[in-house]
Amino acid sequence: MSEQQMKKQVFKPNKEFAKTARIKNMCEYHELQDAAIEDYEGFWGSYAKEKIDWIQPFDGVMDESNFPFVKWFEGGKLNVSAQCIDRHLDTRKNKAAIIFEGDRGDKQIITYLELYYQVNKFANLLRNEFGVAKGDRVVIYMPMIPEAAYAMLACARIGAIHSIVFGGFSAEALRDRIEDADAKVVLTADGAYRKDKPYMLKPVVDKALEGETPVEKVLVVQRNHEDIEWVSGRDYSYNEMIEQQSTAFEPEVMDAEDPLFLLYTSGSTGKPKGVQHNSAGYILWAQMTMEWVFDVKENDTYWCTADIGWITGHTYIVYGPLAMGATTVMFEGVPTYPDAGRPWKMVEEYKINQFYTAPTAIRVLHKMGEDEPAKYDLSSLKVLGTVGEPIDPPAWKWYYESVGNSNCAIVDTYWQTETGGHIISPLPGATPIKPACATFALPGIMAEILDPETGEKVGVDEKGYMCVTRPWPSMIRGVWGDEERFVKSYFGDVKKDGKPVYFTGDGAVYDEEGYITITGRTDDVINVSGHRMGTAEVEAALKKESEVAEVAVVGKPHPLKGEGIFAYVVLKHGLDESRFEDDVAMVKALNGIIKQEIGNIAVCDDIVFVPGLPKTRSGKIMRRILRSIAKGEEITQDISTLEDPSVVEKIISIVKS
Ligand code: WT7
Repeated sequence: MSEQQMKKQVFKPNKEFAKTARIKNMCEYHELQDAAIEDYEGFWGSYAKEKIDWIQPFDGVMDESNFPFVKWFEGGKLNVSAQCIDRHLDTRKNKAAIIFEGDRGDKQIITYLELYYQVNKFANLLRNEFGVAKGDRVVIYMPMIPEAAYAMLACARIGAIHSIVFGGFSAEALRDRIEDADAKVVLTADGAYRKDKPYMLKPVVDKALEGETPVEKVLVVQRNHEDIEWVSGRDYSYNEMIEQQSTAFEPEVMDAEDPLFLLYTSGSTGKPKGVQHNSAGYILWAQMTMEWVFDVKENDTYWCTADIGWITGHTYIVYGPLAMGATTVMFEGVPTYPDAGRPWKMVEEYKINQFYTAPTAIRVLHKMGEDEPAKYDLSSLKVLGTVGEPIDPPAWKWYYESVGNSNCAIVDTYWQTETGGHIISPLPGATPIKPACATFALPGIMAEILDPETGEKVGVDEKGYMCVTRPWPSMIRGVWGDEERFVKSYFGDVKKDGKPVYFTGDGAVYDEEGYITITGRTDDVINVSGHRMGTAEVEAALKKESEVAEVAVVGKPHPLKGEGIFAYVVLKHGLDESRFEDDVAMVKALNGIIKQEIGNIAVCDDIVFVPGLPKTRSGKIMRRILRSIAKGEEITQDISTLEDPSVVEKIISIVKS
């Protein structure tokens, strides 16, 4: 069957699951969406009232008078850690909140009561020993261990704003984020384990804090107990301090719009931006989408394989599952270690009901262990989720048939760091699914594919821009320290009826039944293994090599990663005169710089040395041409207006050779 034919198939929801699903059929879906359209504030207000354990009720639902600076649930007071923990203690204190499995197979089951004590102790440590107060920024640079979740919730309990930096980022990248957020504390670990071997994080923190830094204190969880350096008066051991802390901590009373966290993400230009999410709106939508999209039941076990360094880990490992009182699995290891059956072994052992991962992981598990799922009992599975990039039909098919036994709902969830939670996704009990298709906007989300020129909704099969035309509770509240960038990045490109609307940066199309398929970024952002990478960031890193005169970075389709990074480099003196013997040495040096400036995730798949870049007469690099060349496509654009059209031929012959 061709990919096109595969995409045309429709899979009805499993009748058994649908009977008890929270949204049971498309009629119910449309009723909800119509209710939201008819009375938008009424819709959100009633969910906010029902779902959140308010310390003080809110007065207004939404205030968009200062759009795009929108406020939700003003006057309302709450604490997000209490929403995730305290309110469950009456009914679920002995229920597993977190099931942890370490890389080497070590296990921990943390009940809601235990979580309460751990978070309170952590909060006491931060407040009493480190002086962390409401509004302070705390950077978390940690492996996937339960203490990372305690750290997030302890910050929320104090009212401090956490900013998690993915453990794969380099010291330079960490330093940039610490400085931009002006963080006074860093929470880290000595390191952790990967593929049965220890790896280190603390030395990266040491390097990031060299010279001037706003950071006063560093707390170190000793996870792998490897030797590390301790800076006296700055570095403290969590393991030594935590037991003395009191297990009681009154949660700080927070305004609905007090910031909860920052998470840095790449844009098309400049340095990563600190995406800000605020308390009430974020936690409301995290909880609602957990309930609707994964349909997690009281006795279910839910596992999301993301890292807490990304938004998926924030919303769908920690905040969403805990807000709804679910059991969430946290995994330190690598899905293909010791073999590509590891996830399926865990599904069998913990009787996982919902499994959520990225297409890149599905492709790798498929390639390395096509027959592994059949070796395990996966009958507990009901919902299989994917996120981070468009999933290709072959990967979808294997996931559906071999992992899901053609019996599970596949929820292709489309969203972003900025949206806080899912915005477009199938509902497992209701939506007839088409492979590799995000299907429909969730109830309450006014997502539309618009023509960027006219602001009109596009027709069937016409490519347009994926937009959201009304603010929703978990919409990004700002770019930390840069109001102008916030407005320009998200509300500058598309207007509907003359009014700016939120633009995601993605292209999308409707099919004849109104199903939405995301086609990928329309800007200079590359999606590598579901991780967002700005071409400008990679270019800035490559330019640090003094032999580099000019550079242009584009994405190129990659069989496992979705997209790979392809760099065109113009050297100042050519290779002969440089201090590098050959281009292999130069490529190595350039990727070395990338590892240092950004981290391993940004290492280029291809680096080619070219005599020049295709530019317009006004000096703009024609990336579209470079993208086509990287893909090996015919050049169909008119290149006669280029400053030097002959450079295109030269580049093509270099890339082909
Ligand atoms: C970008 C957001 C959302 C958490 C993980 C990534 C792409 C995300 C899908 C999907 C097609 C997707 C988009 C988006 N993306 N989910 N289901 N189908 N594309 O978060 O790092 O903020 O990246 O990931 O391009 O803009 P992020």
